[in-house]
Amino acid sequence: MPTGLRARDASREAALELRRAGVPEPGASAEVLLSELLGVRRGEIPFHDPPLTDEQARLYAAWIERRANREPVQRILGRAYFRNLVLQLNEETLIPRPDTESVVDVALECLDGRGGAGAVLDVGTGTGAIAISIAQERPRTTVYATDLSAQALEAARRNADQNGASVSFHRADLFDGLEFLQDGVDLLVSNPPYVEAGGIEELAPEVREWDPGVALDGGPDGLLFYRRIFDEAPPLLRNGADVVLEVGDGQGKAVLELGGDAGFVPLGLREDLAGTPRVALLRWEG
Ligand SMILES: C[S@@+](CC[C@H](N)C(=O)[O-])C[C@H]1O[C@@H](n2cnc3c(N)ncnc32)[C@H](O)[C@@H]1O
Repeated sequence: MPTGLRARDASREAALELRRAGVPEPGASAEVLLSELLGVRRGEIPFHDPPLTDEQARLYAAWIERRANREPVQRILGRAYFRNLVLQLNEETLIPRPDTESVVDVALECLDGRGGAGAVLDVGTGTGAIAISIAQERPRTTVYATDLSAQALEAARRNADQNGASVSFHRADLFDGLEFLQDGVDLLVSNPPYVEAGGIEELAPEVREWDPGVALDGGPDGLLFYRRIFDEAPPLLRNGADVVLEVGDGQGKAVLELGGDAGFVPLGLREDLAGTPRVALLRWEG
């Protein structure tokens, strides 16, 4: 990127470079990275057109080269936005998706039916997106969260601290070692890995190459973790506990059926903002 270029010209050139590299929505990536470079909101870019300093030009060129190699913008910046949170990422955390915000909405509705309080367990917490949102938005809850990855838990703990949320994090293979929760929880929430193992190769490079495999791989039919959750969760659930699970495209009916077969009461599916059934809601009646 030549130095002395004005910000908007640099962004236009960057978008062209990204388009040539086959990056989807090249203009959006070029603008988001430019807004971070200038420290302004994306919508304010038209009012900020300074010449880039040498250092800014070098940094922007390096970011654009990484994006051209299909590294997601959030990985380049090392952080992602989720609801009103800024969440730090590392190699073992999935980038939290906007779809998952609907999971939080349904979980909050369930908690509101309990006066906004209760014990909550988020299984497979990653950056902590779901657990931290619930703890922050319903402060009278007691929130526990688990992950198999120690490194993901490190990021989640830091994210909770930085966002002023109180969450108790535990390393666990789903529910293993959570005997201290013997009184049970009122709400189990999870966005488990749900991609069919054989389908991972077909995902966009941004996901296939940059999201951790352990966060994606849902076994041969993508439903492995739902079966495990329905099989292993009951000892940790209070009678009447709500179960809120994110599901992949087209998986909702199968997940409700699996839950029904395991003795849960299937209550239905909720849509994400794009209108796709994204959240399965069930109840454990004991
Ligand atoms: C789809 S990601 C969801 C991350 C985060 N909850 C979110 O919504 O952005 C699934 C998470 O489950 C974790 N995971 C995978 N296998 C697990 C297991 N056996 N026990 C606990 N967590 C597991 C992964 O490390 C990953 O963080």
